[in-house]
Amino acid sequence: MSPKSGAGPAPRIAPSILSADFARLAEEAGAVAAAGADLLHVDVMDGHFVPSITLGPPIVACLDRVTDLPLDVHLMIERPERLIEAFRKAGADWISVHAEACPHLHRVVQQIRETGARAGVALNPATPLDHLDLVLPELDFVVVMSVNPGFGGQKFIPGCLGKIRELRERIDRAALAVDIEVDGGIKVDNIGDAARAGADVFVAGSAVFESPDYRATLAAMRERLPRA
Ligand code: DX5
Ligand code: ZN
Repeated sequence: MSPKSGAGPAPRIAPSILSADFARLAEEAGAVAAAGADLLHVDVMDGHFVPSITLGPPIVACLDRVTDLPLDVHLMIERPERLIEAFRKAGADWISVHAEACPHLHRVVQQIRETGARAGVALNPATPLDHLDLVLPELDFVVVMSVNPGFGGQKFIPGCLGKIRELRERIDRAALAVDIEVDGGIKVDNIGDAARAGADVFVAGSAVFESPDYRATLAAMRERLPRA
């Protein structure tokens, strides 16, 4: 695993590059790193699993060249097993796939682990936690989607807090070291609620990149999190 894979202890904030200015990706990655980000969340969309199309391994490789931040690559794509190796080679440090996109989820998780990346499974808001039962002990993190994936800038679905709470209980009960990443609609005013529910990695796209001062926004978010 690359030395930058974990990037320090939780809680971690992961700005999502989806809301950055794509004409200035290198500059934007540098700006959030300087502003105190822990990870860079990279949303990969294929126009099938979700309606939008974003980017593939070549752009992840470009990001890897210009930033020391670990790259947290969220694959919102069908048949992710075809591309896991390519994303890892491009520099992905964390790789998550959607349970809904993987009929053979256990096999795909093993495949991610074999590349040496941190392995995650993402669940859409309507997908029950039970889908994770068999794979949970194999995971480094779970991505609890708190919006329906496909677009930045959507509103946090409050019902997801209960899901985070329940997942935290299951992880703690089994004494596992699995991070809970919450993705979608995270802002300064609700990041504390997600943390209290049990999340420890916080994706924030529009809240960071559409704010005038990345450093101030990340500092305000961090103030609302428990200290590491
Ligand atoms: C949604 C993506 C998210 C998105 C979050 O499909 O997976 O990572 O970029 O953006 P905000 O924080 O604006 O909801
Ligand atoms: Zn995402």
